[in-house]
Amino acid sequence: MNNITDLVKSLKAYLEENEGEFGYWGEAIVSKLQTPKSKIQILQEFHQDNIGDCHRCPLGDTRIKLVFGVGNPEAQVMFIGEGPGYDEDRQGEPFVGKAGQLLDRILAAIGLDRTQVYIANVVKCHPMVDPKKQEQRGNDRPPNAAEIEKCLPFLKEQIRIIAPRIIVTLGSTATQALLQRQEGISKLRGKLIPLIIAQDQAPIDVLPTYHPAALLRDESLKRVVWEDMKLLKRILANAG
Ligand code: URA
Repeated sequence: MNNITDLVKSLKAYLEENEGEFGYWGEAIVSKLQTPKSKIQILQEFHQDNIGDCHRCPLGDTRIKLVFGVGNPEAQVMFIGEGPGYDEDRQGEPFVGKAGQLLDRILAAIGLDRTQVYIANVVKCHPMVDPKKQEQRGNDRPPNAAEIEKCLPFLKEQIRIIAPRIIVTLGSTATQALLQRQEGISKLRGKLIPLIIAQDQAPIDVLPTYHPAALLRDESLKRVVWEDMKLLKRILANAG
């Protein structure tokens, strides 16, 4: 026995081998000796056990792939969009189409990439204007209130597990859904709005900004998004 790790391992093995003999205290000690699960493991288990092959709303019947979320579960910042589009539905990953490519450039402008952030959406399945025209591009729509109500608890649990320093909501739908606010994005963008996700966690700042798809339609919005991203960069620099 040359170190404390070996001692702990052999104690755990001994208690497990003699299961039952030490009753409650034996079990309590074994559970204390378990290595804590990583956030990636917790997220995977949550995905499998609680979301699975979800059909809790009609979007589940027409989606191709459920888009859970992607990125670094240890990230200090999460980016939240409204819902998967045509490309995301096929690849099972958020923000992989044109808006996603712009999001990547926005991240790069403040020295970030997808390995340093976590990206998800308010709903996990593709909302379509006409679900019978699955093969048609441009058939996207924002999720409705009933779809958001079913899916939002999953996003909130992902946020609770990841516990980022800050969340950037992209566009009105994500901002209004997460913050339960009525105002549009032009009123809320650039403000830091605290959000309580769990009673045992500190409130998380939410920084709303425009959705990258809005920037593709109106280039003049780039200037204000840049202001918001500079604020994000300052906050992350101080987060340590
Ligand atoms: N728009 C979103 O809001 N989310 C995506 O994942 C893609 C486009």
